[in-house]
Amino acid sequence: MTAKAELHYDGRTLELPVIEGSEKERAIDISALRKELGLITLDPGYVNTGSCRSAITFIDGEKGILRYRGYPIEQLAERSSFLEVAWLLLHGELPTTAELQSFKEDIRLHTMLHEDVKRFFGAFPKKAHPMAICAAVIGALSTFYQNFLDPNDEGQSNLSTHRLLAKVPTIAAYAFKHSIGQPFLYPRNDLDYASNFLHLMFATPCEEYEIDPVVAKALDLLLILHADHEQNCSTSTVRLVGSSQVNLFAAISSGVAALWGPLHGGANQAVIEMLQQIESEGLDGKRFLESCKDKDDTRRLMGFGHRVYKNFDPRAKIIKKACFEVLDRLGTKNKMLDIAVELEEVALQDDYFISRKLYPNVDFYSGIIYQAIGIPVNMFTVMFVLGRLPGWISQWKEMQGDASKRIGRPRQVYTGATERSYVPIDERG
Ligand code: SDX
Repeated sequence: MTAKAELHYDGRTLELPVIEGSEKERAIDISALRKELGLITLDPGYVNTGSCRSAITFIDGEKGILRYRGYPIEQLAERSSFLEVAWLLLHGELPTTAELQSFKEDIRLHTMLHEDVKRFFGAFPKKAHPMAICAAVIGALSTFYQNFLDPNDEGQSNLSTHRLLAKVPTIAAYAFKHSIGQPFLYPRNDLDYASNFLHLMFATPCEEYEIDPVVAKALDLLLILHADHEQNCSTSTVRLVGSSQVNLFAAISSGVAALWGPLHGGANQAVIEMLQQIESEGLDGKRFLESCKDKDDTRRLMGFGHRVYKNFDPRAKIIKKACFEVLDRLGTKNKMLDIAVELEEVALQDDYFISRKLYPNVDFYSGIIYQAIGIPVNMFTVMFVLGRLPGWISQWKEMQGDASKRIGRPRQVYTGATERSYVPIDERG
């Protein structure tokens, strides 16, 4: 028996079905609303609005739960690897040994960029933000695969998936190499995913570059933690752009652009810049927090707060623990970590943050590890792209496979001028 919600309006009653998800979340299906009552809903920021049914990632914001295809993020962080998690997100099940090996091989075969793609980088200013470069080059990649872009062809979509997972780390590393005037290196197919990225980023043709296993493991963990997060801003962008049936490269490029914003993935860069400002100006953490609470001050406590989590972001807890472990193993101290821990302690005792249920999110500590492993600050959000890529593709794939899929086209409530006649320019006031 389907549960119902009743809407009474203008003397009429409309019964709307209430649907329930596998975790007992409920939603009113308003598909009939406009046809039956001539009404639409309005929900700025989609705070109360579901865009789709999805079986990929479950978040319980009140309990601080995050699961990929039912597996708790804590277990995946502890026991899995990024490419295994990518397969899980894409296919819905953990891979067998043979499936994982074949997946790794598929990706390894596509890590090189077409030699003509490498020429794009030289056209960018040295100080170009790497997120701009990534969005541009990922979008342009589609021009090299003109006959493999049909979003409804499973074989072509799988090939595009492998190409993106393989090439985006190369694109990211080349954006960094371009910014420092160093030569691009070729990927090394004998290295694992994270190690190959470190090689592309930090090796030079002049000498052997030794991959630190502690650093490679930390990077793989961070990629797992960023892999998917249900219908966040950039994922919803990928779905909306993808709903027009444009190719996957263009949809992913739009996700990169959305993620760049400082309220979204760009927050990891903003957090470190905030911590560096506190340190360089010798600011007192407590006083700095006061400015974050001041409505007249645009500053926010970056890396804090979340649309869904009204409890700890489980990813932040894992990353904070990893910060101490990685810095300890690398034998390095990091003043940023000390400042971040102090800010967290003070904020979590402050009624402004408590009453608004503002806790550290995934971006609060991630930059400290990126910094410890040598990633430059303006590459932090690019690291988020590398992690979120399998999530974006999985969500795009789920949408493409949905028999009820339609182009996304929200309505609006018009508040502009009502009808009026054109006035010739010589008669205007
Ligand atoms: C990510 O959606 C996802 O899943 C995203 C993500 C993912 O994996 O894809 O988790 C990744 O984007 C994490 C969020 C990274 N962004 C930041 O750290 C930027 C700082 N945080 C905020 O800007 C904010 O918390 C958001 C953008 C994350 C959430 O914004 P909401 O849900 O629209 O909440 P809001 O802005 O309406 O805030 C509610 C109240 C407001 O105060 P009042 O108007 O009620 O007085 O809380 C205040 C806000 O001013 N507030 C903050 C704050 N975050 C919210 N005040 C100070 N510092 C903050 N960080």
